Amino acid sequence: MTGKTFSLSGHLIAAFSLLALTLSLFSCKGGDPTVTSPDGKIEVNLALKDGVPYYSVSYGDIPLVADSRLGLEAEGLNLKDGFSLGKVKKYSSDSEYDLPWGENKHIRDNHRGMKVRLENASGTVLTIDVRAFDDGVGFRYDVVTSASDSVKVMDELTEFNFASDGTSWSIPGDFNTYELLYRTLPLSSVENANTPFTVKSDSGLYMSVHEAALADYPEMTLRHTGGTSFISALAPYPDGVKAILGPSFRTPWRTVQIGERAVDLVNSSLILNLNEPCAIKDVSFIEPVKYVGVWWGMHLGVNSWTQDSRHGATTQHAKEYIDFASKNGVDAVLFEGWNDGWETWGKGGVFDFTRPAADFDMDEVISYAKAKGVSYILHHETGGNIPNYESQLDTAFAWAKSHGINAIKTGYAGGITGGYNHHGQYMVRHYARVLRKAAEYGIMLDVHEPIKATGERRTYPNMMCREGARGMEWNAWSAGNPPEHQTILPFTRLLGGPMDYTPGIFDITYRNIVGNPDLQAWNGPIATECRVNTTLAKQIADWVVLYSPMQMASDLIRNYEGHPAFQFFREYDADIDWSEALDGEIGEYYVVARRAGERYYLGAVTADSAKSVGCPLSFLPRGKKFLATIYADGPDADWKTNPYSYTISTRVVESTDSLDIVMAPGGGQAVVFIPIK
Ligand code: NOJ
Ligand code: CA
Repeated sequence: MTGKTFSLSGHLIAAFSLLALTLSLFSCKGGDPTVTSPDGKIEVNLALKDGVPYYSVSYGDIPLVADSRLGLEAEGLNLKDGFSLGKVKKYSSDSEYDLPWGENKHIRDNHRGMKVRLENASGTVLTIDVRAFDDGVGFRYDVVTSASDSVKVMDELTEFNFASDGTSWSIPGDFNTYELLYRTLPLSSVENANTPFTVKSDSGLYMSVHEAALADYPEMTLRHTGGTSFISALAPYPDGVKAILGPSFRTPWRTVQIGERAVDLVNSSLILNLNEPCAIKDVSFIEPVKYVGVWWGMHLGVNSWTQDSRHGATTQHAKEYIDFASKNGVDAVLFEGWNDGWETWGKGGVFDFTRPAADFDMDEVISYAKAKGVSYILHHETGGNIPNYESQLDTAFAWAKSHGINAIKTGYAGGITGGYNHHGQYMVRHYARVLRKAAEYGIMLDVHEPIKATGERRTYPNMMCREGARGMEWNAWSAGNPPEHQTILPFTRLLGGPMDYTPGIFDITYRNIVGNPDLQAWNGPIATECRVNTTLAKQIADWVVLYSPMQMASDLIRNYEGHPAFQFFREYDADIDWSEALDGEIGEYYVVARRAGERYYLGAVTADSAKSVGCPLSFLPRGKKFLATIYADGPDADWKTNPYSYTISTRVVESTDSLDIVMAPGGGQAVVFIPIK
């Protein structure tokens, strides 16, 4: 939902209508409980067949999800069959709320719902809570059992039986990493997939299966069961148990976003709407930032995280980055390798989150940054050692606060101590614990190797951004992310929430490190055999396309010094108020507009093929003139053969104008619109 598409005022328009009215809003197909979206297009139907619950979803006359089983498999309890239909409680709500940061700060939540109570002889009450929005559906299990202590969930039986085949975009369903390449596959040939699992159905409609409010449960992936049918596959504990819960529990929401255009999926707020309102009383510590840092040098292999002659995070380097940030209006800096522990990582040693490296004078760096008006993002690489991190959490956060720090980038590279799955309940609980603890201390988080984003940023808006997909780092030590990557991310990974992709590499083919005596291979091929599969204009566009409330210009600062195109980042404001995905086809191209204060930004990217898009500027306020500075691919640009060719031009525009966005193969375009006073 975008800030532009509705004009209702007040916070609660209509909630929990009178029963008589509510009942008239719902229909019952042959007596089965049914709920319809406010616009009447989406319908969810629940049915019991021989005591087993099923659901189906349709859009107008088009069936989208055919009868699909619901239920859970639990140790010693029956949560799956023998049910009879109890009370059906219908409800509806239309309200609006604000978030402390974008990509849209103002959101409308308009839905109709039903709670369907199912009971069986074992004393189980399984309530299925279903909500239908104009842009999709969500449902979750609300379970009350007869267990006296805890319930062991052994499997989830939720099916997604797509009513027709289609084209799908997904990463494989791996329980330990999301840093995988996207596959474009016929729906019926996907073996397993993680979510968001996005499909263009043969009916022409777009759908994406995901989850919302994942806080105390394993993640859900999808396993193919034949034809166009999938079943939920949960990340297990090492002993195979999926979740350990109390006698009464609620699962995360299972969601299916639905749209007529691909961009409808992006403009949907369904995932946020299925999360609880903000739980933090004072959110004043939360502020979006753009940042630079000692980071890319390590991935390229010209610097090290360890304290040797190639050490990146030295006091001197830190000061250079702070000077650069301060001169260029960049809000914050990040220094990786600032602390003790990197030398013994993987050799039994542990990270210390309060002991700076010998050549990194924390107090001096902090006071230098403060004097220059630059904020400091701390780095906590845990190496997956959860007991070590949790034992230091309070001291580490208190220490950060005592140094005036309000943002931490965390990391969970490598296997998890104890053999736990990265995306199982053990880790989901850990991430939630860290998030709540960070909120207590007034700290924003940027989580790498995270659990998937499921909209918990509504409840804990200090959850700023996370990785959870192949980011820029892969371009330093592998064949890299293909040009289509950025045209798939908005329709898949980013539906869950913002990503710290770390865009903005200007030295695309790493020509400036050729001959550098410090250069070493460390995680794959040497950097000079790698490159970023992009044009320069696309790197600029990525700052807009790959939204993050903590947005990094990730290149070495020497590649930005004196570069005319860095002006875009200077003029970029990470505190985005409003966004709208304007145009795009998954895996082909994507165009998005954003606003921060009075400035507007446009980002457009294409995959391997050149692409021209006519773009009406009707998102600009009427009657106002703007100076548009356009960062475009040069006429001879091509990501493979001529990636550095770009142009910068200016034009005076207004809302009645249109832009011809011309993009080279693997290219892009970025525009900043500054009002003319
Ligand atoms: C992986 C993270 O994604 C990356 O940003 C970080 O530099 C390394 N781990 C080291 O912590
Ligand atoms: Ca990573």
